[in-house]
Amino acid sequence: MDLIIKNGTIVTSTESYVADIAIKAGKIAAIGKEFSEVGVEVVDAYGKLVLPGAIDAHTHLAMPFGGTVSADGYLSGTRAAACGGVTTVFDYPMQRKGNGILDTVESRKAMCDPEACVDYAFHCIITDLNDDKILDEFEAAVDYGITSFKCFLVYKKEGMMVDDATLVKILLKAKETGAITNIHAENPDLIDLNIEQFLREGKTSAWYHYLSRPEFVEAEADKRAVHLAKSIEAPLYIVHMADKEGLEAAVAAKVEGHEIYIETCPQYLEFTCEVYKREDGRNFVCSPPMKAQESQDALWHAIKVGLIDTVATDHCPFQSYEKDWGKDDFTKIPNGCAGVENLYPYMLSAANEGKITFNRAVELCSTNPAKIFGCNSKGSLTVGKDADIVIYDPNKEFTISVENMHSDYDHTIWEGKKLHGYPVKTFVRGNLVYNDGEFVGKPGIGQFVKRVAHK
Ligand code: URP
Ligand code: ZN
Ligand code: ZN
Repeated sequence: MDLIIKNGTIVTSTESYVADIAIKAGKIAAIGKEFSEVGVEVVDAYGKLVLPGAIDAHTHLAMPFGGTVSADGYLSGTRAAACGGVTTVFDYPMQRKGNGILDTVESRKAMCDPEACVDYAFHCIITDLNDDKILDEFEAAVDYGITSFKCFLVYKKEGMMVDDATLVKILLKAKETGAITNIHAENPDLIDLNIEQFLREGKTSAWYHYLSRPEFVEAEADKRAVHLAKSIEAPLYIVHMADKEGLEAAVAAKVEGHEIYIETCPQYLEFTCEVYKREDGRNFVCSPPMKAQESQDALWHAIKVGLIDTVATDHCPFQSYEKDWGKDDFTKIPNGCAGVENLYPYMLSAANEGKITFNRAVELCSTNPAKIFGCNSKGSLTVGKDADIVIYDPNKEFTISVENMHSDYDHTIWEGKKLHGYPVKTFVRGNLVYNDGEFVGKPGIGQFVKRVAHK
């Protein structure tokens, strides 16, 4: 054995029990009691929870967007991930017209490999089918370990949107090749109509970001995507669900037995659209925007009763000076907020407060993303899995501040948020990468996760 974590309470998605974990060559070698400690490094986790590392299934690191590039690259984004108990991130390389899937992914992999502080996987965003040639690449991409593709139903002017016919082609091809399609659902024509009107009327504050993309604008696209996926019996994963009406449509399809998965994000569980009335409202600008209280309540209800599958972050921070471009015009604010370091602490704090169980927090943040996206070696504390492990102190009080985060951004929407309980150690395949407030890992230790086909 290389390492024993002893006396902790092991938490999986289904049970909690006191036992020791023995780790060898980066894998969980045994779970039990009274392992020989001779010549082995031992970590005492008495009074602590021992959890599988979180999988953040939604990040945008070094993403060109909104006239700039997101503030966390692969090094700082994965360093922050490690310090928040995230041991795998799923980033979103974006295929562009004329480019293929594998060249898009490989160029991002080349950037990520020397910098990654935690393991990483890619969902590939498809923006153009290159006269359908992209569809012929799906099989090779799945063999390569890219088993999920993303479509934006929005960002039309930015050249990222796919139309409904393209979406259906992708849904069908993904189904045929054992992949799954992720979608960002908002209706761009309705957004543009609203924006034109607001700008004409001189309504330019961050509040109009919300009013240009209100609940029904997201719901229309959620419902359309659900309808299309249902009709052709293709699996669908809806990213960053933020509105009640769309959620209800997705849940109804799920309950009917269709393979629809729903992701939401901590920002939709914590903030409502009221934040856009604040003086610093632009810092909260992301798409879809935070919605009204009714939507937040519906999201929490679905979390509690098991109808939301995953919580991920959509981590896409921008610096203050970039957010300031939109001080007098909300359309100039780069869309996106920070979150990768806050995901697990936030959901575990909710568990500590009794809103959900710790098992459910593990299911949402680790076990379900591993299962849905084919990370067979991750997502659970089970013999044979990667030793991606978080030791969590349920008694540690923590207040989030940009000062105690490990990213490259200069502000956070989570400033001042008090958490009950906090991760104290993170291991990636048995390597200690975070210890009591400090990043102690090494850039480059993160490995590409080759995923298996979906179903
Ligand atoms: O505002 C956001 N969410 N920015 C990142 C890109 C996206 O839509 O996921
Ligand atoms: Zn999105
Ligand atoms: Zn996103």
